[in-house]
Amino acid sequence: TGYITMDPAYMNTGATVSSVTFLDGEQGILRYRGIPIEQLAEQSSFTETAYLLIYGRLPTRQELVAFRLQVSRHSMIHEGLKELIDRFPPGAHPMAILSSAVCAMSAYYPELAKMDQTPEEVELSIVRLIAKITTIAAYAYKQSIGHPLLYPDNSLGYCANFLRMMFGVPCEPYVVDDDLVKALKVLMILHADHEQNCSTSTVRLVGSSRANLFAAVSAGILALWGPLHGGANQEVLEMLEEIQRDGGDVAKFVLKAKDPKDPFRLMGFGHRVYKNYDPRATIIKRTADTVLTKLGKQDEPLLKIAKELEEAARSDSYFVDRKLYPNVDFYSGIIYHAMGIPTTMFTVMFAIGRLPGWIAQWKEMLEQKAKIGRPRQIYVGPTKTDYVPIEARG
Ligand code: CMC
Repeated sequence: TGYITMDPAYMNTGATVSSVTFLDGEQGILRYRGIPIEQLAEQSSFTETAYLLIYGRLPTRQELVAFRLQVSRHSMIHEGLKELIDRFPPGAHPMAILSSAVCAMSAYYPELAKMDQTPEEVELSIVRLIAKITTIAAYAYKQSIGHPLLYPDNSLGYCANFLRMMFGVPCEPYVVDDDLVKALKVLMILHADHEQNCSTSTVRLVGSSRANLFAAVSAGILALWGPLHGGANQEVLEMLEEIQRDGGDVAKFVLKAKDPKDPFRLMGFGHRVYKNYDPRATIIKRTADTVLTKLGKQDEPLLKIAKELEEAARSDSYFVDRKLYPNVDFYSGIIYHAMGIPTTMFTVMFAIGRLPGWIAQWKEMLEQKAKIGRPRQIYVGPTKTDYVPIEARG
């Protein structure tokens, strides 16, 4: 009924009001609940930022302690879920494992997989998901290299516990490296929310049907996997490695990215809303320098190639005219790589970071009592056509 407005990629269409994240793409500003990400990256912890996003304000000391306790208390995964992960074939992409295992949580907690949850049930879904996603993610990696799962150690903080589950082995004590924990924390905070991006809109759309949180987030993880979205961080590193194998000629790849006949794009470049530098990339680039220096990897050739590529693109009118700058994914992979995290895990890292944002937006959507999302279309197919029996078809 009435007119249908077309905006296929939602270039200008707002689907919701939100008080979670403020983003000004022209100015390169990003704030969670009003607080600039620069301040959070410097001063907050990941669990505190998660609290801020989900509950709308910074916690008091007691609230933060209680939240951390809840999250660490739920960090183990059901042994059945562990077996499910074990059944994936060798070489399975960890994003496939992560989304399946998160979705499978609805089977392990059926009481949380129904419509009209009580506030206590909503709360339990949230805490369980934040608590278990790192355990699932680390196990997806351990399974891929044939190592046993390390159970979580609840005496450690969120990021330290994750690193231990990733890199620790049962036969040796794990020594926490504070510099790595800090770098991981910064990366996680910078990924924690980004208003109505593709995966978050997916979480909201799936959630608008009142599907449970595990189902909605599992769908969000799958949307994130795409190379134009979170999957770009894996693609960036693979691109840098390809440039390295090819002899390091960045100009050649800039030329290729400009060729309208070549589908190749500079991965980690460009953004739908940032038409100025992505503020997350500024911090991540700085963090990459600090982390690599601390690890004694300041001469990492991939970092050098990335910087040369950025410089070449930023002095090229194609990229300047289109306002294409490095985005969050451009330098993050270099840090993960230096930390020893395998390339196939990069988008999983993004998913862990984005989880508080997905949850905050899902919760806000429920509180808004959002109607089911249901885009319209303009039909361009055949007019009424009669069925032709198979024997009469030419
Ligand atoms: N390399 C070369 N050309 C590009 C690039 C790139 N990375 N990005 C955009 N362009 C060109 C594009 O060809 C188009 O040119 P023209 O106007 O001549 O047709 C113009 O710039 C506008 O691009 P668009 O694809 O219409 O812009 P969009 O807003 O639909 O897409 C984007 C945004 C992020 C998908 C795109 O810039 C891209 O594909 N970038 C590479 C993938 C990437 O790094 N994704 C991560 C995004 S940030 C984090 C996240 O969301 O996960």
